[in-house]
Amino acid sequence: MTDLPPPRDKPNAPSCDRNRGPILEVLRDQFARRRSVLEIGSGTGQHAVHFAAAMPWLRWQTSERALHLSGITAWLDEAALPNTPAPVALDVTQTDWPVSTIAGDRFDAAFTANTLHIMDWPAVEACFAGLDRALADDATLVVYGPFNVGGAYTSDSNRAFDLWLKARDPHSGIRDLDAVDALASRIGLRLQSDVAMPSHNRCLVWRR
Ligand SMILES: C[S@@+](CC[C@H](N)C(=O)[O-])C[C@H]1O[C@@H](n2cnc3c(N)ncnc32)[C@H](O)[C@@H]1O
Repeated sequence: MTDLPPPRDKPNAPSCDRNRGPILEVLRDQFARRRSVLEIGSGTGQHAVHFAAAMPWLRWQTSERALHLSGITAWLDEAALPNTPAPVALDVTQTDWPVSTIAGDRFDAAFTANTLHIMDWPAVEACFAGLDRALADDATLVVYGPFNVGGAYTSDSNRAFDLWLKARDPHSGIRDLDAVDALASRIGLRLQSDVAMPSHNRCLVWRR
């Protein structure tokens, strides 16, 4: 007999296994001189484990809506990395982001993947308003996901995905790069790179 607790089921998003390699190539470069990353909408926690292991110089702070925290904790506990503190409950629409209690100081980087098309537009706006307070003056922001360009889909698959999203939630949907860039610009972020990624996704990189 053993007193060990039964293993917890870890949530699994197969897309993370597919996209983590190409995203890491961008992050290795963009976060080479960063120290402290706030990840928004960490989902399962799979990205966090992969990126924090590959970039041990970073402190990778996961965050999510409260219902996802136990899954993230399961991934972080299993990996037992020294640079992944416990996830924090953060819904971007809450006005009081607990950033000062998380970092003690502002983050010099932020990352989010596949979230802006899930959030409704007011939540996307709230996300950038929160980032304004959470990010240091020279911070880097990397956002991964599908985007429209000039108001148009970049592929038939993105068009189909957008229709699927909107059938599920009419307030969700693929965002226009220019509209997101306008929000970023309002908080002093300048678009540095727009990196094409597999499956008609992009990695957008802003710097303050
Ligand atoms: C498609 S999942 C992406 C998860 C993960 N980043 C990934 O790439 O696998 C979208 C995530 O956005 C999160 N999300 C949606 N609305 C949010 C909000 N208002 N605040 C914080 N996270 C939110 C969801 O909880 C969900 O985990």
